[in-house]
Amino acid sequence: MLDLKGKIAFVAGAGTVGPGWGNGKATAVLLARQGAKVFGTDINEAAANETRDLIAKEGGECVVHRCNMTVADEVRAAVDACMQRFGRIDILINNCGGSAGGDPVSMTEEVWDAQLDLNLKTTFMGCKFVLPVMEKQKSGVIVNISSIAGFRHQVAGRVNIAYSTAKAGLAAFSRSTAMAYVKKGIRCNTVIVGTMHTPLVEQRLVKQLGAGDAATLIAQRHAAVPMGHMGTGWDTANAVVFLVSDEARYITGIELTVDGGISAARV
Ligand SMILES: NC(=O)c1ccc[n+]([C@@H]2O[C@H](COP(=O)([O-])OP(=O)(O)OC[C@H]3O[C@@H](n4cnc5c(N)ncnc54)[C@H](O)[C@@H]3O)[C@@H](O)[C@H]2O)c1
Repeated sequence: MLDLKGKIAFVAGAGTVGPGWGNGKATAVLLARQGAKVFGTDINEAAANETRDLIAKEGGECVVHRCNMTVADEVRAAVDACMQRFGRIDILINNCGGSAGGDPVSMTEEVWDAQLDLNLKTTFMGCKFVLPVMEKQKSGVIVNISSIAGFRHQVAGRVNIAYSTAKAGLAAFSRSTAMAYVKKGIRCNTVIVGTMHTPLVEQRLVKQLGAGDAATLIAQRHAAVPMGHMGTGWDTANAVVFLVSDEARYITGIELTVDGGISAARV
C-alpha cells in the first residue's frame, strides 16, 4: 500500500518557516518513508537542508536546491538539476504559500501581487517546467496545496483577500491542468488544508494577527474546529501521499479537504 519505491518527487517549498513539522516538510519526509527519492526546493536554503538531513537520518535520499519558485529561470534550473540527478520526475508537490491580511481597500497593490505570486504563480511555475518532463514519460502526478481560506470564510477570522482568491484559484488551476493532461497519463489534484498547527502559527500568525500570546491564538484555533483540535503537517502529508500513490490512480481533478470537519459545519 502507498508504495513509492523508485519514484522521484519534486517538492516545492520543502522546508518550514520555523522548527517543527510544516506541511511541506512532513510531506517530503513521508514521501521518502514510502520509498520516493526527494528533490526539495526552497527559497530558504537552511530550511531545505533541515528537511534533507531529516530524510538522510532515516536512511532516505533527498537532494535540495535553493530556488525562488516565483522566478521562471530559477524553476527551470531546479528542474534541470533534478533531471540531471535523477533522470525523471514522477511526483510534483506545489506547497509554497502563506497569507497576508487585508481587504480590497486596505491591501496594497504590492502585497496583492506578492500574494498571487507566492500562492498561485509558484504552482504555475512548478507545473510549467515539470509537465513537459512528465509528458515525455507519459506518467506523473501533481498535488497542489490549497487552503480552506479559499472556500469557507472563517467567521471570526481576518480577511485575506489575495490569499483566499489565490487558494480558490488553485483548485481551478488543478482541475484545468488535470483535464489538459488526462489522456497523457498525468493526474493533478488539490489538497485543501484546514486549520493546522504548523510552525507558521507561532512564527507568523501570532505576529500578523496581533494576538499577543501564542497560547490564546492556539486555543482559539483548536476550538474553531469541529473535531476540537487543529490538524498537523502529517495530516496534510497523509492526504498527499495517498493522492500520489498508485492506489489513487483513478482520481484526478478533485479537491481533497483535510479540515477536521470545518467544511461540513459551514456549508
Ligand atoms: N499551516 C496552516 O494552517 C495552513 C492552512 C492552510 C493551508 N496552508 C498551506 O500550506 C502550505 C505551506 O505550509 P507549510 O506548513 O509547509 O508552511 P511553511 O511556511 O512552514 O513552509 C513553506 C516553505 O516554503 C518556502 N517558500 C516560501 N516562498 C517560497 C518561494 N517563493 N520559493 C520557494 N520556496 C518558498 C518557505 O521558505 C518555507 O520553507 C502553504 O501553501 C499554505 O498556504 C497552511
